[in-house]
Amino acid sequence: MTSKQQKTLFCSNIQGTYSVELIDVPELGPGEVLVELQAVGLNPIDWFMRERGLFVPKWPAIFGLDGAGVVIKVGEGVANIEVGDRVMHAGTMVEPKISTFLQYAAIKADFVAKVPDNISLDEASTIPLVLATAALGLYDSKRSPHGGLGLTPPWEKGGRGKYADEPIVINAGSTSVGQFLIQFAKISGFSPIITTASRHNEEYLKSLGATHIIDRTIPLSSLPSAVHAITEKPIVYGADAISTAETQNAMCDVVAPGGDLLIVTHKRIAKEKLEGGEKHIAWVFADVQYPSARPCGLALYANMTGLLERGEIKVGHIIRQALSTQPNRIKIVSSGLAGIPGALDTLKSGVSALKLVVRPQETP
Ligand SMILES: NC(=O)c1ccc[n+]([C@@H]2O[C@H](COP(=O)([O-])OP(=O)(O)OC[C@H]3O[C@@H](n4cnc5c(N)ncnc54)[C@H](OP(=O)(O)O)[C@@H]3O)[C@@H](O)[C@H]2O)c1
Repeated sequence: MTSKQQKTLFCSNIQGTYSVELIDVPELGPGEVLVELQAVGLNPIDWFMRERGLFVPKWPAIFGLDGAGVVIKVGEGVANIEVGDRVMHAGTMVEPKISTFLQYAAIKADFVAKVPDNISLDEASTIPLVLATAALGLYDSKRSPHGGLGLTPPWEKGGRGKYADEPIVINAGSTSVGQFLIQFAKISGFSPIITTASRHNEEYLKSLGATHIIDRTIPLSSLPSAVHAITEKPIVYGADAISTAETQNAMCDVVAPGGDLLIVTHKRIAKEKLEGGEKHIAWVFADVQYPSARPCGLALYANMTGLLERGEIKVGHIIRQALSTQPNRIKIVSSGLAGIPGALDTLKSGVSALKLVVRPQETP
């Protein structure tokens, strides 16, 4: 390996094999920074892409949508970031595509956020994609096919606490996306914040801001009555942070006519439930560089460090440790990039409020 080369994880083809390969370290364009990736967070989309070829323009492909590391070079015109800064960023599907299953990534400086001192790079690498899913989902404009609920974000005047006394129901609160939805809902003032989860995650989700936890093992058909037992107000805002076909349909029944439902995967709601057009379904696509999402994405990145630094948005794993009810909810995968295939199998088999993190510089 020359000093201009780096290790990366290639996937040969749809449902193909993984291998660690050498590629060139990218040249920097204007406005970009070169990040030495110290930590890469894994997401369910990483194994979807290999299994289903979703969002893969060509093979062999490099996946990975979350990274954190140290800036080692800045391109022309970069004013907000300096060499030595600890930063985090999300990958993007927008050409030129940026992946994170590698050791060095060149990324537009507008879409990296400094990591505050209270957060480690391992923790930071679990934040960007799912935080953006929650933020774009709640605060990006309503539009088709991808958009958000169009709420006023907390970084705009009047956004903080704006939805006081308005209930919100967040299905699957212990997903990584759900944990950030709960925290943004709290900043926006929603009350009550009702979520579903396994019972063992109840205390944890309450520490994030959820006010009521419904056991997610109850039949989904009884979800509307379980919500009604907590509040008699109509549910104008709902979010489904897992969005299986079953949960989307159940959450559609929870939302009142005239209300809005956020979903995080493609829409699978029965046509008859949407007849009359009374319910708006927002399907978020959390690529902050996607042209229509860009304005909200830029605003999020301009505010992300402050939200984390002030502790208004917490990384769940830190709170978990503080509560001492569960072990640390980040697991470091051994063998760097070479450990990813096994870790993605673990992710596919199901985890509970746990993020898997890889350290690319430890790749043998
Ligand atoms: N649209 C986008 O751009 C975008 C971006 C990122 C993610 N996503 C999607 O967002 C979803 C969540 O991703 P994630 O990374 O946050 O997931 P994750 O952290 O891997 O989710 C794990 C959690 O899911 C919960 N869970 C699993 N099945 C459930 C069900 N049927 N009902 C309720 N909770 C369930 C479990 O909760 P308990 O432990 O409490 O049982 C577990 O803690 C996925 O569908 C993913 O594809 C979409």
